[in-house]
Amino acid sequence: MKIGILGAGHIGKALARLLSEAGHEVGISNSRGPDTLRDLTHALGHGVKAFTSEDAARFGELVIETIPFGRFMDIPAVQLEGKIVIDTANYYPERDGQIDLGGLSESAFIARHLPKARVVKAFNTIHFEHLESQGDTGKPLDERRAIFIAGDDQDAKDVVTRLIEEIGFAAVDTGSLEDSKVQQPGTPIYGPDLTAVQAREALNK
Ligand SMILES: NC(=O)c1ccc[n+]([C@@H]2O[C@H](COP(=O)([O-])OP(=O)(O)OC[C@H]3O[C@@H](n4cnc5c(N)ncnc54)[C@H](OP(=O)(O)O)[C@@H]3O)[C@@H](O)[C@H]2O)c1
Repeated sequence: MKIGILGAGHIGKALARLLSEAGHEVGISNSRGPDTLRDLTHALGHGVKAFTSEDAARFGELVIETIPFGRFMDIPAVQLEGKIVIDTANYYPERDGQIDLGGLSESAFIARHLPKARVVKAFNTIHFEHLESQGDTGKPLDERRAIFIAGDDQDAKDVVTRLIEEIGFAAVDTGSLEDSKVQQPGTPIYGPDLTAVQAREALNK
């Protein structure tokens, strides 16, 4: 499928590589424009394209939002209408500044900025180096590293689950976007290397 990526940092680069190697058409963007991404797209190969954020959002049938949380206002909402949007972001006030989430989960807050997008939180609990190295399609699902997901749209979560499995991980569902508070920074499941079985035990699911 066509996948647009907003953000070409640690997580954006890792997902661009994994998803393009899995056979998807990937377009990636950053804050400085496509000319600054030529070396990266050349190194990634697999036809990965460099775009502006707006064009990456337009290009993707599914779009991954992986820019710093505090820059959420720059996510191009209009181009994402009707699309599945994976939100990888974590809110760190010391990095992102003080933002009043109004009691919402981090992803529900992002989703409020993208009212017509089908937001799924995923990939926020795994360090980028582990994302790059720990996927293993040869393992049974239960024994793979868990990637926690959350969202309000079951069909969107099913699509994201398949992508996660294609790159060698197993999706474990924490519930709705509001439920995704259980996978935010500081929670017991944020960070540890858990198999899918261990992850479900940790959630009592
Ligand atoms: N690092 C991890 O291991 C990890 C793990 C899980 C989740 N996360 C979360 O995922 C998100 C991304 O993390 P990261 O470590 O990949 O960040 P990062 O390495 O700092 O990269 C951020 C990327 O976002 C781009 N960007 C910044 N502001 C932008 C804007 N206004 N519009 C468009 N693009 C913009 C940057 O482009 P420029 O370079 O051009 O500014 C850069 O390519 C964060 O919320 C983080 O908490 C990180």
